[in-house]
Order: sequence, then structure tokens, then C-alpha cells
Amino acid sequence: MFFSLDPQERRLFQMIGNCAARLGVPAYVIGGYVRDRLLGRPTKDIDVVCVGDGIRLAQEVAGSLAPKPKVVVYSRFGTAMLHFEGIEIEFVGARRESYSPDSRKPEVELGTLEDDQNRRDFTINALAISLQENTFGQIIDPFNGLAHLEQKIIKTPLDPGQTFSDDPLRMLRAIRFANQLGFTIEPNTYKGLKQYKSRLHIISKERITAEVEKILQTPKPSIGFNLLFDTGLLHLFLPEVTALQGVEDRAGKAHKDNFYHTLEVLDNLCKKSDNVWLRWAALLHDIGKPPTKKFDEASGWTFHGHEWKGAAMVPTLFRNMRLPLDSKLDYVKKMVMMHLRPISLTKEEVTDSAVRRLIFDAGEDLEDLMLLCESDITTKNVKKMARYLEGYEYLKERIALVNESDRLRLWQPPITGEVIMRTFGIGPSKEVGIIKTAVREAILDGIINNDYEPAFQKMIQEGEKLGLKPVL
Ligand code: CTP
Repeated sequence: MFFSLDPQERRLFQMIGNCAARLGVPAYVIGGYVRDRLLGRPTKDIDVVCVGDGIRLAQEVAGSLAPKPKVVVYSRFGTAMLHFEGIEIEFVGARRESYSPDSRKPEVELGTLEDDQNRRDFTINALAISLQENTFGQIIDPFNGLAHLEQKIIKTPLDPGQTFSDDPLRMLRAIRFANQLGFTIEPNTYKGLKQYKSRLHIISKERITAEVEKILQTPKPSIGFNLLFDTGLLHLFLPEVTALQGVEDRAGKAHKDNFYHTLEVLDNLCKKSDNVWLRWAALLHDIGKPPTKKFDEASGWTFHGHEWKGAAMVPTLFRNMRLPLDSKLDYVKKMVMMHLRPISLTKEEVTDSAVRRLIFDAGEDLEDLMLLCESDITTKNVKKMARYLEGYEYLKERIALVNESDRLRLWQPPITGEVIMRTFGIGPSKEVGIIKTAVREAILDGIINNDYEPAFQKMIQEGEKLGLKPVL
């Protein structure tokens, strides 16, 4: 079969083919580019493999382009890369690789195109397009990759044991591609995932996390997480999440399966937001449940304080997964900690000050928190669902009203540190902070109105408690 090239592609591929012919090295476009083009997905970089020296081919190609692009050489990997018209093109010599059992780093020897295709992860990723003159544009498909694209199948080219042992990251890639592309994993390949899962231990956490994030970025990550769970892979790097699975029944009282609930919440959220950190928060929002679970004769199963416990578990999990320990961590922690707050405020009798407290505590992340909480409603009872959603709509209106009345989002209490210092004739000190906090808390608790006069009076009272007298 021949690949249907667009004119720009044809020009580029012919030019590379001509350079390869001058050097006497057969060249092919291979891997993800071919797969994505055939699937009609957006393409990223182009990988070119040649039977010979890939770095020399890159230099030859660069030399025939104007202006001549810079060639970045990775001599350790025997590859070279250049940019042309915004496209990244990577060149490599065809190779045969043999791996040692305790390392991802292969021993590399020069090989044929067939050797190179053999060492790739999946049949759909082993497709090559010939750039040689007599077979230009022909698809070389030794493992039925074309049929598997058609049938939507993820399958290893060799025995799964060999492909996965060579590079265990491929087990996560199999699941990620299945999720991203909507493909199924061929039964023998799937068996291989279960059988070789423990090999994942040689893979760095950074690489594992990169695949997990790609799964999190799909429209329906539950597909990937269910596969990760069923193969036993998820247990190896996110035990806090797998611990959510299971239902316990005591005296006819059962709690819901918090793992499947979590995946539903995650899928719900993915319909509303692309924010990957909010998606992490959805995945982790209930991780405090297993360690706080208790059975009470009167009320059944309880998970009191699971939001606090869960938030406290997030930093360790972030550290283990090599996720950033910066504001992203604070954000996820805050979402986990606050995920029950809005639901408790959906009743009519809730006071303005409780709503104000939520606005203040959530700050600029309030909309995200509301999205998470709405996604957390997974009841199958249509009436209950309608009631909860109505409650949220009501809360949103209340938030808008409170916001309007005191613009709390950019909230500055009416009494500033300046006013406190001037009134009591004091300099910057711990007392200024104490008085400021007391005034702010009184407003947030609804004890005084958010206006200058009552706040000023409150400041005088608080100053007196500290032995301060107004000097004005
Ligand atoms: N490859 C492989 N084993 C890996 C990683 C990559 O065999 N662990 C091969 C596959 O043939 C793949 C190609 O190298 O198509 C390019 O890899 P990469 O750029 O990482 O992946 P893509 O398939 O292009 O897809 P994505 O960018 O979505 O990861």
C-alpha cells in the first residue's frame, strides 16, 4: 500500500530521500508520525530511520536546506535532530537492541529496517514509509499494523514478554494509547501486562507520571485507570488510589465503592475542565477515606475527616510521583481539603458569613472548587441529582450576591495596618497583625458588617484588649 502524501510532505520526504540516496543509505519515516497521519490525528515530530549513519544523514539534509538549520547531535544515542518549517525531524540509524534485565538502557548495534521495526513497541507504531526512489511512499508493514489501525487494536510486534521486558514503560504506553485512541488491547498483549507488571520497577517515577498525566488528559480517563487497576499496574505506583476499591457490608449496611466513584467524578470533571491539576484533585479527592473509615452501629459507615486526612496525604504522594512541590501541590491539597465545603452550604438557612468564609478560603480557586464539587455528585437517583444541582445553583447565586455586596475576591478589610498604627501611635509590630486578624475574622464570621465604622470600633476594642489606647 502507498501512503497518500500531501504536497508539502512529498517535497520534504523527497528531499530527505535524495540526501539518503547520495549517501547510499535507505531511509524511512517511521513510528508515531505514520500512525497519527493514518489516523488523521494532528502530527508532531517526524522520525526518520536510515540503514546507516543517522547523524550523517541529518547533516546532509541540513546542508541541502536554506537557510541551513542547526543540527543537534545526541552522540550517546546516535541520533540527530533539526527543525525545518516548524517541524522537528529526528534522524537515527536502524538498530538492533538488546536489553539487560535490570535496565532500560539498551546495548545498541547497527541493524536492518526489519531489526528496527522488531524492536518497537506496538504494531501500529512500527509502520514505515519508504523514502527510496523505486518504492517512494510505500508503507512497510511487517506486523499488520495497518489492519490493527483499522481494527483499533494495540498489539506488540513480538511476544509481549520480549517487548515489555525490553522496555517496561511500554506497558503504560499500551494503556495510554488504548485510552487516547479508543483502541482495545489484544488479549495476549493484555495477558503480558498482567504477567510482566512487576518489571515496571526499573522505570523512573518521572516517566510513569508522564504517562499517567497523558491518561489524565484524555476525555475519559476512567478507561485508562480501569485498565491500570485490572492489570495490577496502578497498585505499583498509586496505592493510595487502589486502596479506594472495594465495598464492605456489615449488618446489611454497605458503603459505595470509592474507587469507581472516584473515576466517575474524574470523568465528570473532564467534561467541564482541561486543568490537569484539577483532574489530579478529582483523582485524589477521596484518598483520605480508607484510613478514616469506621463503622458505627447507628449511622453505618463513616469517613469523618477524610478531606483533612486526604489533604495531608497529598504531599507524600506528590513527592513519590515526582510531581512539582510548588503552588500546584498547594492547589491540589486545597481542593482535596475543601471538597466537602460547598455541599454543606447549599441549604437556604446558610448565613451570608458562611458563604463569605467559603469565598475567602477558596480565594481565586472558587470556580474550580465548585466544578470539582458538582462532579462529585454521582448519585443514580434522578430526583436526588436534581436536588443537589439545584442546591449548587442556589449557592452560586448566593456567592454572586455576597461578592457583589463586598467584592470579597479582592477583599481588603476596611481597616488597614496603616490605620491601626496611626490610631494607636505604634510602629509595625505583632499587635498590628493581631488586631487586623481579629477585625477580618469578625467580618468573615458576620459579627460586624463589612464597613469602615463597625470595623473601626472593633479595632479600638481589640487594641484595648492589648493595652493600647487611641492617640488621636
Ligand atoms: N517507541 C518504542 N518504545 C517506547 C517509546 C517509543 O518502541 N518506549 C517507538 C515507537 O515506535 C514510537 C516511536 O518510538 O512510535 C516514537 O516514540 P514517541 O515519540 O515517544 O511516541 P509516539 O509514538 O510518537 O507517541 P507520543 O508522542 O504520543 O508518545
